[in-house]
Amino acid sequence: MTRYHQIGWPYLLHHIRQRLTGLSGCFLSLLLNLPALGHCDDSIVSEPELPAAVPVLVQHCFPCHGPYGQSGSPAIPSLAGLPRDYLQSVLRSYRHGGRFSTVMGRLMQAYSEGEIEIMADYFSGQSYTLHKQQTDWRLADRGRLLHRQYCRDCHGDPVNPADAGVPPLHGQWMDYLRWTLRDYLVGINQGDEEMAGKLSNLLRKQGPEGVESLIHYYGKAIQ
Ligand code: HEC
Ligand code: HEC
Repeated sequence: MTRYHQIGWPYLLHHIRQRLTGLSGCFLSLLLNLPALGHCDDSIVSEPELPAAVPVLVQHCFPCHGPYGQSGSPAIPSLAGLPRDYLQSVLRSYRHGGRFSTVMGRLMQAYSEGEIEIMADYFSGQSYTLHKQQTDWRLADRGRLLHRQYCRDCHGDPVNPADAGVPPLHGQWMDYLRWTLRDYLVGINQGDEEMAGKLSNLLRKQGPEGVESLIHYYGKAIQ
């Protein structure tokens, strides 16, 4: 827990409470094993059983990203099975301030390049999770066509994997994708230059419903 003290949990928790509406402060305190921060019913959350082989380093990530990186919160992305190259590059971007974040930028200050490699190795080696989510089939159908037109070349689909260094989007939590896309669309996050062009074309020609259609398509996790 030394690391957490170094980066200041109260600061992190303040941000999480504001942005991550999916988690109450009480629930999070329980997950983080900080009972002093909230008085909660212990029966709400049970500690996941972790096999001994899981590196201690990546266990720091489980309270938020779920056991093995399979997130149980729609606000927080699953990490299990994301490509190694992408994990390394996004963790470096958080550390250097190149990618907007509420939590991760501050958190990554505490880790070295070598530790980033251990994290990327571990999470890329876990099986990719497809989350079961409620979707509107009309939107998802439209999203499938838009994905082919604007996004598939880089992000792939369940049959054609994403390019190296690009995250797959199918099956990721819809809330997380919605917020992350908004960060790119409003320009808080620059991301990939070519993608920025595609996103502004998409918004101009298809409007906000076009963006929402893509999110439903990814949530449905079909080809
Ligand atoms: C306090 C909660 C919390 C902890 C602990 C945490 N994360 Fe995160 N993580 C988040 C949130 C929230 C996001 C979304 C970006 C943001 O707003 O910070 C995120 C995003 C990410 C992403 C981006 C995923 C994607 O699809 O692009 C990666 C990779 C990641 N975290 C890795 C880690 C690793 C590795 C650890 C352990 C060292 C960790 N996180 C610990 C909350 C957390
Ligand atoms: C030229 C290749 C390319 C195209 C085309 C592209 N993207 Fe991306 N996308 C990327 C890369 C590279 C990243 C990682 C960028 C970063 O680290 O910020 C990314 C990241 C994302 C993320 C963040 C995912 C996460 O797990 O945090 C979302 C959401 C996303 N793209 C959606 C889209 C959508 C929707 C389209 C189509 C309208 C699209 N992208 C088109 C290359 C592309």
